[in-house]
Amino acid sequence: MPKHLPVLLLACLPLLAVAQDDPVERLLAQMTLEEKIGQLSQLTIQSTPTGPVIDQGEHTQMPVTLLGSVLGADTAQQTRQLQEQVVNGSRLHIPLLFAYDVLHGFRTVFPVPLALASAWDPDLAQRTARAAAVEATASGVHWTFAPMVDIARDPRWGRVVEGAGEDPFLGSALATALVHGFQGAGAPDVSSMLATAKHFVAYGAAEGGRDYNVADLSERTLREVYLPPFEAAVAAGVGAIMPSFNEVAAVPMHSHTKLLTALLREQWGFAGLLVSDFNAVWELAQQGIASTQADAARLAFNAGVDIEMASQSYRQHLATLVRKGQVSRKNVDDAVRRVLKAKQRLGLFDDPYRYSDEARERASQLTPQHRALAREAAQKSIVLLKNDSALLPLSKQPGKVLVVGSLASDASATIGPWSGAANPEDSVTVLQGIRNAVAPGTEIVYLPGASPTSPATPNITQVEQTARSSDVLIAVLGETAEQSGEAHSRAELGLPGGQAALLHTLLNTGKPLVILLMNGRPLVLDASVQQAPALLETWFLGSETGNAVADVLFGDINPSGKLPMTFPRHVGQIPIYYAHKNTGRPPSGDGSFASAYIDVPWTPLYPFGFGLSYTSFSYSSPRLSTTRLASTQTLEVEVTVTNTGKRAGDEIVQLYLRDDVASVTRPVRRLRGFRKIHLAPGESRSVSFFLSQQDFALLDEHFSPKVEAGGFTVFVGPDSTTANQAHFEVSDTRRLSDDQVDRR
Ligand code: NOJ
Repeated sequence: MPKHLPVLLLACLPLLAVAQDDPVERLLAQMTLEEKIGQLSQLTIQSTPTGPVIDQGEHTQMPVTLLGSVLGADTAQQTRQLQEQVVNGSRLHIPLLFAYDVLHGFRTVFPVPLALASAWDPDLAQRTARAAAVEATASGVHWTFAPMVDIARDPRWGRVVEGAGEDPFLGSALATALVHGFQGAGAPDVSSMLATAKHFVAYGAAEGGRDYNVADLSERTLREVYLPPFEAAVAAGVGAIMPSFNEVAAVPMHSHTKLLTALLREQWGFAGLLVSDFNAVWELAQQGIASTQADAARLAFNAGVDIEMASQSYRQHLATLVRKGQVSRKNVDDAVRRVLKAKQRLGLFDDPYRYSDEARERASQLTPQHRALAREAAQKSIVLLKNDSALLPLSKQPGKVLVVGSLASDASATIGPWSGAANPEDSVTVLQGIRNAVAPGTEIVYLPGASPTSPATPNITQVEQTARSSDVLIAVLGETAEQSGEAHSRAELGLPGGQAALLHTLLNTGKPLVILLMNGRPLVLDASVQQAPALLETWFLGSETGNAVADVLFGDINPSGKLPMTFPRHVGQIPIYYAHKNTGRPPSGDGSFASAYIDVPWTPLYPFGFGLSYTSFSYSSPRLSTTRLASTQTLEVEVTVTNTGKRAGDEIVQLYLRDDVASVTRPVRRLRGFRKIHLAPGESRSVSFFLSQQDFALLDEHFSPKVEAGGFTVFVGPDSTTANQAHFEVSDTRRLSDDQVDRR
């Protein structure tokens, strides 16, 4: 025996003691392989499953006692019952984790994420996620599959509604805020839940905007555009990450060892749970890289996927794979340890039922405070796209009003897709909101006229006659909640169904017309939509939709939202986004032999960052603290913003940066700062931004971060097209270490 062994043993004793004291290690030591694999399996009992129910023989009927988590239980009673079944019925009494898609609310619904992103307000986003967590946790939900932090530059993709739009800087700020909001203060607070950043990664780059399609993109685009919000979520301490359905350059994400293990776990130090998407382990066979389900399980697990959702390839095959030496026991233990630790942190080993609390459920859901927050968030998410001759705001005694469009009374459309456990009946429709807001005695006539799901235009003659006798027309047009979201990509982005015909009828009357858009993605707003003098983008705003819309319509609230995604003029322009490259033949040139179209302008209809107000703002030129600085120094950029109109209002001041000449081509500009300010009529305020190496840096041709000496242009203004600019120079070139870089 080597003579230093006793010393080694002595040195290990404290570790052994810790291991024995630690309930997680104690459990692990007692668990059979099958019990361990149970912890890595997630049963779904969703009321609407988000994928096919696969018959995997006897394993389709999983005994809940051999499971780690359940997706889809949503009441305190249901979660308690299931928990009792598992805790009492299993050998080691390990409690379940209850997961749910709590994206933008649970019983109280907040604006869909794309809408909320229009508020450019991380603090507001955090508060809505907190409220959603308070409600969901009371029903026993421990774990949300949110936030979705996929960057999306193709509005045909139905899932743009679930994320923050096209920009990694805004997306990262919101990812951080939402993770903090959902996760709250952490244990022992029973309203803290695990958040999941999804879908890792480049899901939004689906070819043709067709959901689940392949993504084939450069490493640079992956690093500069799609990865940053995930990195921000990891930095914010997100508890889980869900890989995406797509492949990236021929490797399905559920078997992507390089991105799941080398990048996420090893480089970024992510220590949380990696949960598959619905059936996505099973789908590795469909994707053509696994010939059997055993293969699919082996590939996914060895790439780093801890938990399998819905399909049951792990339960069926992982034990055999371990016994054959194709999956390591240690890796199984590590994955199980992560699951058990998550349960431990949530306090479930102390009290498995601490989250399922019927009294708290009654007291905390749909409270007046949450409804007030839903109204505030909805007000701030509305974007005023057009307001000719200051048609808006309307007077509260507007004479006779005709409200048209089936969406005006569609409660389901108020809550949009992924609306938690919400009941549409708890929502205020647009029609109801208008009725609540107008002065007593105001005549409001409602005729649906058309719907987004049918070409019919019922009672169109009556609509026309009523319109002619009305003083103002309010048309609620757009998409139903089911026309965006998962598996709801569209190839045409105009107004679906009979709405275009309805609109023509309304326009022909020549009456003042306000269009309220309800939709989950940027739409192509054709010439007839643009004929309307007033256009409000209201997305799907949640439980308080109608009241918030009326607040803006009648001027109690001055709209301040700005678009988080470019609105194209034509589907053929997609993908279209503000942070594009200049090319050698920029479209902004004189037009000949330029990178443009011969039939449609190259510019968007409404650019990223765009949104009007009932007041107007002016900007001073940017003032710089210096025009030449070293790469280690900080530059202050200051502008004075003045409210030049007659109403108080909020303005979202945006700063964009361009690296004028670099060793690799750079976007024409990138968002690097934003600030929302409130200004009384006539008031001026100076706003400062600070830029430093993180903002100046780029990834060179070897993907090594550095600041390069040379000129930069900084733009500060109301949207991504602002020409309000100043120039400065960085005097030296310097390499940065990975942790000095902020890749948003
Ligand atoms: C499939 C979706 O892609 C994912 O976002 C969601 O969390 C799961 N289904 C569970 O509903």
